[in-house]
Amino acid sequence: MEYTNCWLQYRRISDKNIAELEIYCDLDGKTASCGIEELKIGFQELYGRVVKKVKQETEFKNCEKGILLKITTDISGKEEYCIQCEEGKCVISALTETGILYGVFSVLRNLQIQQVEDFNTWTYAERKSPSNPLRMLNHWDNMDGSIERGYSGESFFFCKNEVLVNERLKAYARMIASVGINGVVLNNVNVKGAATALISERYYEKLQLISELFLSYGIKLFLSINFAAPMELGGLAVADPCNEGVMQWWRKKANEIWDNIPGLGGFLVKADSEGRPGPFTYGRTHADGANMLARAIAPYEGIVIWRCFVYNCQQNWRDTKTDRARAGYDNFMPLDGMFEDNVILQIKNGPMDFQVREPVSPLFGALKNTNMMLELQIAQEYTGQQRHVCYLIPWFQQILGFNTFCKSEHSKVSDIVSGRTYNQKNCGMAAVANTGNDVNWTGHDLAAANLYGFGRLAFDTELNPECIGTEWVLQTFGFHEKVKETILTILMKSWLTYEKYTSPLGIGWMVKPNVHYGPDVDGYEYDRWGTYHRADHKAIGVDRTEMGTGYCSQYNEPLASIFADRKRCPEELLLFFHHVEYDYMLSTGKTVLQHIYDTHFEGAAEAAQFYEMWQKLKGLVDEDCYQRTLERFHHQKEHALEWRDVINSYFYRKTGVDDKKGRLLY
Ligand code: GCU
Repeated sequence: MEYTNCWLQYRRISDKNIAELEIYCDLDGKTASCGIEELKIGFQELYGRVVKKVKQETEFKNCEKGILLKITTDISGKEEYCIQCEEGKCVISALTETGILYGVFSVLRNLQIQQVEDFNTWTYAERKSPSNPLRMLNHWDNMDGSIERGYSGESFFFCKNEVLVNERLKAYARMIASVGINGVVLNNVNVKGAATALISERYYEKLQLISELFLSYGIKLFLSINFAAPMELGGLAVADPCNEGVMQWWRKKANEIWDNIPGLGGFLVKADSEGRPGPFTYGRTHADGANMLARAIAPYEGIVIWRCFVYNCQQNWRDTKTDRARAGYDNFMPLDGMFEDNVILQIKNGPMDFQVREPVSPLFGALKNTNMMLELQIAQEYTGQQRHVCYLIPWFQQILGFNTFCKSEHSKVSDIVSGRTYNQKNCGMAAVANTGNDVNWTGHDLAAANLYGFGRLAFDTELNPECIGTEWVLQTFGFHEKVKETILTILMKSWLTYEKYTSPLGIGWMVKPNVHYGPDVDGYEYDRWGTYHRADHKAIGVDRTEMGTGYCSQYNEPLASIFADRKRCPEELLLFFHHVEYDYMLSTGKTVLQHIYDTHFEGAAEAAQFYEMWQKLKGLVDEDCYQRTLERFHHQKEHALEWRDVINSYFYRKTGVDDKKGRLLY
């Protein structure tokens, strides 16, 4: 087997009901065909039922059993669907074929979750419209086949500077469409070398094939572009967004691109960030840069997604006033209201960089006249790199539920990025993807729960992480109580467990530089990246109050005051906002130091438990998957011990204070 089907395994539920399945449908679009194909695969696998011929819609009225797929104007949402099933007659209707496809996937999902043995007696009704207009995956795939921050093999989009077109792409499209993803950025945000030329003759043909395939699953293709492309591809002397020659170059380029790839969604841009070119070189603003591109691609309904990950990465660690956390707000807040309507600012969930715990970026509560998109990372760069299990959906749910106090109502992050707060249509959620060409797609088999979960949550931000986890387990592993219980327990604990044995109380980092894996408390402490913990023998943490960097005041009240007050600041973020003494007393009655010791012992013990729990599933899950995962749990257990001891020893040696429980510190 080259690769698994992850959660699209359609495990047999019963053989009770193997009569032929009748499908009625007059639609001839590609997306409707994908829906019909999916029903065929699904019913064949789940029930052993085959479809001999797709019949006409008019015949449905007089039939006894069957599934009707139809377009209706009774439904207004472009991606909304309606399902009505009763006694073997089932109608899936929508305004568009994409809506129908989502309805099909919902039927198949629900049959599995509910373990419906007899479709002919199933009663089910659902009407659903996605919470977010855009639900995207950002791949950080390079054209040589490597993946930046990739932990599950090589790219299945690129190899040796060529674009790949093969069967795996279809398997991928089915998988992500089944959870409602409708946009994919194919290439890394750091656009260099051959990737700059993705927008040139050399690659159009293959990109068009991919775009067409994706569109048939309701997914738009996007590309990351190099802001300096006019120079590198066009031979111009500058890439100044206010230069007439540059503007003209992009207009011509856009025309050429959409001529060749008519369904393209637009561009993702990382500019003036970590060494990438951008408008700053020419004394221009990010609005100048984004708007110039936006105007060039507006005639094709293209969208510019402009990243806000802009900060000074040449900081001096001796400078305690400059604060990387402030940078997003400081750079973009003055530009609020200045962006074209087809520009979306893509903002990472936190002000730093996908740490295991961070406050929500203050930009979400601050920008009022700008389209916004939330950027999450399911590639577990800082959360165990898909060798440790870390189910991130509970974390994402907290982020979406965070009240920014930007208005008296509809002020949660989920309201803002879905367009509810400011009535926007270009907005949504994106995740840095965690896939590669590994057999199981995600390195760790359980990491697929993050891919599944991100899609489901982006489609319906009200879903609960445990329900999402349950759906995923049942579809991936089949229905077995012990398997379900064990995996779900591990998933639901895993994020907090990971947090316990790594960096404490919101301070973040403490990882080995560059690779971002494994403990190195001072790894980034005296470096240029602006990621400091400021620990000495008395205290630890960054003062972000008015006395310190002033970051707290970027939040709306009452948040600004709450974060600035040690006593009211959420304790899990204490060291992010405050520089506190090791003997500072937490609400648990423990000192900060004792909290660090305790959580590290607890976290490592929990990782060891995961390994034991998994061992009890031998024989109950597929053997290959069992072995692959066993190896990872073993590594996690050992690596958590390493984390525990490196962190605890560091603070023990800094403070000379023993563990109250008398455990061995090195
Ligand atoms: C992180 C990550 C980089 C990535 C960057 C980004 O810093 O380590 O690999 O390029 O984020 O989001 O642009």
